[in-house]
Amino acid sequence: NQNPLVLGIETSCDETSAAVVEKGERLLSNVISSQMKVHRRFGGVVPEVASRRHVERITDIIQQALDEAKVTLADLSAVAVTQGPGLVGALLIGVSAAKALSFSTGLPLVGVHHIAGHIYASHLVEPLQFPLVALVVSGGHTELIYMSEHNRFERLGRTRDDAAGEAFDKVARVLGLPYPGGPEIDRLARTGTPAIDLPRAWLEPDSLDFSFSGLKSAVINRLHNAKQRGEEIPAADLAASFQESVVEVLTEKAIRAVQGKEVDRLVLAGGVSANSALRKQLKARCMEEGIHLSVPPLELCTDNAGMIATAGTFQYLDGQLAGMDLNAEPNLKL
Ligand code: KG4
Ligand code: ZN
Repeated sequence: NQNPLVLGIETSCDETSAAVVEKGERLLSNVISSQMKVHRRFGGVVPEVASRRHVERITDIIQQALDEAKVTLADLSAVAVTQGPGLVGALLIGVSAAKALSFSTGLPLVGVHHIAGHIYASHLVEPLQFPLVALVVSGGHTELIYMSEHNRFERLGRTRDDAAGEAFDKVARVLGLPYPGGPEIDRLARTGTPAIDLPRAWLEPDSLDFSFSGLKSAVINRLHNAKQRGEEIPAADLAASFQESVVEVLTEKAIRAVQGKEVDRLVLAGGVSANSALRKQLKARCMEEGIHLSVPPLELCTDNAGMIATAGTFQYLDGQLAGMDLNAEPNLKL
């Protein structure tokens, strides 16, 4: 099929999303229903609440994605769905919907890895060119991935504890900011200076792994000690200092990964790529080192089905199809 038209479905966390993508590069629709407001009062995503919400929204969202793309089920080539990783109860809703569609229409079914989706978001802006390194930073992941060609992923590094987005969310909580904390810290940091000395977890000299839990503890200790002494640390300075530490380590390890693999292309992906300091610093460092940096627009950085439909298209073209035994895999390996 020279002109594949793929419906993508994403329900791995707190966004119910469906999208239609043509030829793996043209976004015809990308409907995203965020549950942010629902989870906000709990200070984080509540899995049962998320699944229930997905069930309520999924049928409408799929119909809306088809309507906006001005296509019907009969026009489609395949249905692609996030198979994992993610919240199992949330993933199951998307997987069930995709299987039902596939079963009733005979459309081929494709199971997509959520991280592959985040990387392929970039392809909707400019074609991925291989070999490349991707820095995937989200609420659940912090990974450096090498891709030699379509559908081939090699993990170079990962977080050993908290994901970068998770660290942002936890530190925000300590600072009394609402969930999700990433955008809040980003905003607050702009009004502060990174004057507070916080650690950088470089780990072993040649390691491309990450660790953010020590940094989170350092922030908590700083606040605690200041409180005991009856002093006050400006929250904006703490936010700026924390962000600087995260951004510095992410940036330098990404550059190191690119140079270690002797490639000259870096793709940024995942919700944390919305961070203004990370975008700025990565851009500057890539410019210095002669690395081509690809950063998707904000709405494609966070969870959306457009990225799943895109990654799914390349799997479909490669014949990587799933059967009716496709299951949600909360810990799916890339
Ligand atoms: O990719 P995503 O939408 O969902 C996951 O798959 O996790 O990423 C959400 C994460 C949250 O932790 C959120 O706080 C973080 O991305 N985030 C940010 C920013 N915008 C979103 N972190 C730092 N700065 C931002 N501007
Ligand atoms: Zn994500």
